[in-house]
Amino acid sequence: MTVKLEKEVLESLLTMATFVEARDAYTGGHAWRVSQYGRLLAEEMSLSRDDVFVVQLGGLVHDLGKVGVSDTVLNKDGPLSAQEFELMHQHPESGVNALGGHPLLPLVREAILEHHERYDGGGYPTQAPGSSLTVIGRILGVADAFDAMTSTRAYRAGMTGERAMQIVDEERGAQFDPQVAEALSLLHHKGELDHVLGHASEEQLLLNCPVCGPSVVPPEDAHDGDTTVCPSCRGIFAMHRQGDTFQLELQGMSPTLYMPKPDHRAVQSLIAAMPSKRIKPRDVTAR
Ligand SMILES: [Fe+2]
Repeated sequence: MTVKLEKEVLESLLTMATFVEARDAYTGGHAWRVSQYGRLLAEEMSLSRDDVFVVQLGGLVHDLGKVGVSDTVLNKDGPLSAQEFELMHQHPESGVNALGGHPLLPLVREAILEHHERYDGGGYPTQAPGSSLTVIGRILGVADAFDAMTSTRAYRAGMTGERAMQIVDEERGAQFDPQVAEALSLLHHKGELDHVLGHASEEQLLLNCPVCGPSVVPPEDAHDGDTTVCPSCRGIFAMHRQGDTFQLELQGMSPTLYMPKPDHRAVQSLIAAMPSKRIKPRDVTAR
């Protein structure tokens, strides 16, 4: 069985992936960063072009199931209760169910299902050990955790890349696949993660909302004096140019709903990386 790749079908899947960021605006650019870390890791590990593509696509859609998690759990400012954890732990399977009979589901199933499994078998939803996870899931597990550690949330500041790398090293063979952790370490020391960390997309540095932290994705053609809205707190801010970035000054509150738009550049670069018209999921998900 092969999966036929069509531009329009791919675009529709990626549009669905942007809905996750409407629910969890705080993590601006999370899917893009996981996709980019995943691509870099897959290339560093010399995976085939098909595999690299599947990792990159999987990174963009891995959290689709979060659309079904309630705001009180998703954006909770503190530790989750056992019951809340149970709800959160259902998002991988919900994501697969949400895609139902989507023609590209066979390509992204492992990315969605396995990104919270651990190498030592202590993850969720199935507690599958590293030896029975796909290379796609093992790569995205590291990419997702690295981004979670280096991103700022309502209740804590993000770690530096250096500190997060230390934790990934300490967790080699426990939470993380040693081979993937090694690849991340090589990329980190070469400085190849720098253009992804703290960015919302290529060339787009996240701006610091004075209320929420780095959560504002600036418009691509932003100028000094323009206004922008924080997707998290809905504050309207004036943008003051400061070197390569902008400082934000609160002007008021936006009365409109936040609805993110698909990142057209990410979509176009993924379409440009489309390896061939057909991909065999059996090959790309080889253990
Ligand atoms: Fe997730």
